[in-house]
Amino acid sequence: MEIKNQQYCIGGIPLLNIAEKYGSPVYVYDGEKILHQVESLKKAFADVKMKIKYATKALSNINILKLMKKAGTGVDAVSIEEVKLCLHVGFSPEEIMYTPNCVDFEEIKEAVAYGVMVNIDSIPMLEHFGTEYGNDVPICIRLNPHILAGGNAKISVGHIDSKFGISILQLKHVIKVVQAYDLNVVGLHVHTGSDILDAEVFLQGAEILFDAAREFKDLAFLDFGGGFKVAYKNGDITTDIQDVGKKVSAAFKKFCKEYGRELEIWFEPGKFLVSECGYLLTKANVVKPTPATTFVGVNSGLNHLLRPMMYDAYHSVVNISKLDGPERVYTIVGYICETDTIAADRKIKEVKEGDIIAIKNAGAYGYSMSSNYNSRFRPAEVLILNEKDYLIRKRESMEDILKNQISIDF
Ligand code: LLP
Repeated sequence: MEIKNQQYCIGGIPLLNIAEKYGSPVYVYDGEKILHQVESLKKAFADVKMKIKYATKALSNINILKLMKKAGTGVDAVSIEEVKLCLHVGFSPEEIMYTPNCVDFEEIKEAVAYGVMVNIDSIPMLEHFGTEYGNDVPICIRLNPHILAGGNAKISVGHIDSKFGISILQLKHVIKVVQAYDLNVVGLHVHTGSDILDAEVFLQGAEILFDAAREFKDLAFLDFGGGFKVAYKNGDITTDIQDVGKKVSAAFKKFCKEYGRELEIWFEPGKFLVSECGYLLTKANVVKPTPATTFVGVNSGLNHLLRPMMYDAYHSVVNISKLDGPERVYTIVGYICETDTIAADRKIKEVKEGDIIAIKNAGAYGYSMSSNYNSRFRPAEVLILNEKDYLIRKRESMEDILKNQISIDF
């Protein structure tokens, strides 16, 4: 978001115009920012054979997926529906990695039938896979490295109590199963969590993967998952991607030499690619002073952006209707019949009813985690690319709310 001609803009287009043209609330995505993020990740790992498997779940509008494809990424899908979505937009099966957790084996069979690689995350599934396919179908194995990392407990998934992956302590068991079924293991995977700052965490994960990889003869790639942290507030420390790139690439190259083969290194970023590109534009319905707090009640809430309530996530807010004038402290809340505080005690330009409040960092896990709670419509989505705005998803309507409901006579 830049300021141009005294207006907050993306790609030269004033965001107030977007709110006026498409109504609010509306998700707006900066396509150039996504492309920039893809390029900086590629640059950070230019020294090794790196593949990006964009974490589809972060923002799964088909146009964002198409943009990723154009930028040369592959995708990571976590449900068979995401697999189908990715195939629908034109990703080839080889470009898709399917990383399911606790799904019915039928979903895995479906993915295999499409020719999509499956990232197996439990020993029973590995055995199931062996019984069904033997060594006919190449697989990746998701290991749980037992590293506690990530922004908070709900998004730290590589620790010992996590349901994800196969414990690294069970590696011997994994190898027995692999041998028993003669499985064709071509990749190993770890994902420690989301919002990881430190290159050291990726290096720890790398060492664990390298140790495990020494037990497998025919690997083609190692997948380090996602988790790069982006800035949520001014002055936030973020993953220094060039630093991670330099350190992890050096360790990876050293390992490949020892392994005797130039493996590929894969990453599955979600937030890094799409968090900062997204803004949720909401309208101030009411400015409500109380003895303790002045609330700004906007026409959105936990139904559209769950992160502040689910993870206590910090999202910056800006009153984009005002560039000048005094600032005041407000607590921005939603219109949902729950305590849906979006941003507490924030100093922003004085708010009048009807002002547009932009919520930043709404690209990742914003729309994709939205719901119809309180029978509200999901917002529209707009993509700005090459200085043009495109409506990429219509706002829902009453028809959508009623679509699958069956009225019975009783
Ligand atoms: N790969 C795997 C296997 C994952 O489980 C995840 C995220 C990613 C990649 C992408 O992680 P990222 O680069 O986006 O941090 N809804 C939460 C984040 C949940 C992440 C779940 N897995 C949030 O809004 O913070």
